[in-house]
Amino acid sequence: MSVVVRLDRLLANMGYGSRREVQQMVRAGQIRLDGTAVTVADMKLAAAPDLRERMTVRGQKLDPPPGVVLMLHKPLGVTCSHKDAGPLVYSLLPARWRSREPAISTIGRLDKETSGLLLLTDDGDLLHRIISPKRHVPKRYLATLARPLDGTEVARFAAGTLMLEGDDKPVAPAVLEPLSPTTAYLTVTEGRYHQVRRMFAAVGNHVDALHRDRIGSLALPDDLAPGAYGLLGEGEVVAIFSAPDAPGDPGPAAVESN
Ligand code: URA
Repeated sequence: MSVVVRLDRLLANMGYGSRREVQQMVRAGQIRLDGTAVTVADMKLAAAPDLRERMTVRGQKLDPPPGVVLMLHKPLGVTCSHKDAGPLVYSLLPARWRSREPAISTIGRLDKETSGLLLLTDDGDLLHRIISPKRHVPKRYLATLARPLDGTEVARFAAGTLMLEGDDKPVAPAVLEPLSPTTAYLTVTEGRYHQVRRMFAAVGNHVDALHRDRIGSLALPDDLAPGAYGLLGEGEVVAIFSAPDAPGDPGPAAVESN
């Protein structure tokens, strides 16, 4: 259900400027709703997803209203942090989106040197539902290894007894699908720090490259290039919480790309 808000507050919180600046934009006829210039800056309206199709600001389609969920193809070398020194994933989004309130944040993190499917949202409840350990949302990684698998890893990862250095509890059972002697998919349901790299380290191997291609049954679309992002619709958000049908199933791929 969407919240009813004042137009000037809504657009200010979406990063379009201060409320006073939004009021000036209204006076200048720069905000249109259903094709007609808005004249009342404090008019009340529902901050519903369809506003994106109905409203323009300075002739441009409105940014996604609050409740946004994004899928980003995280490239190597960018950090999932709001304040690190290096390049941040947020720099891949339009500059205005960095001033939004509530802020758009990553749902969990990928290491700087991990690429692939990263979700972002301004919806705190959704964020917590996805990262909650109780939900067991499966995340699939393609790992490229320094040494060939020795054949014991599938059972060791599935056992639920593997201890990672520095932890006091074994990792939950995880599914390893070898693809070649040095590449494999690993599906985990927890989100421990450097989990995949540490799991392979625990069995005497080393991860040379890591890429996440799936969360739940939501797959990273082949045509979403590194650094590109798309808005998720309701169907894709539901897919996050549904288990993939079978290994190798591509899952839903339709996103509104930017
Ligand atoms: N496990 C890792 O080791 N790194 C990631 O980025 C994600 C999972």
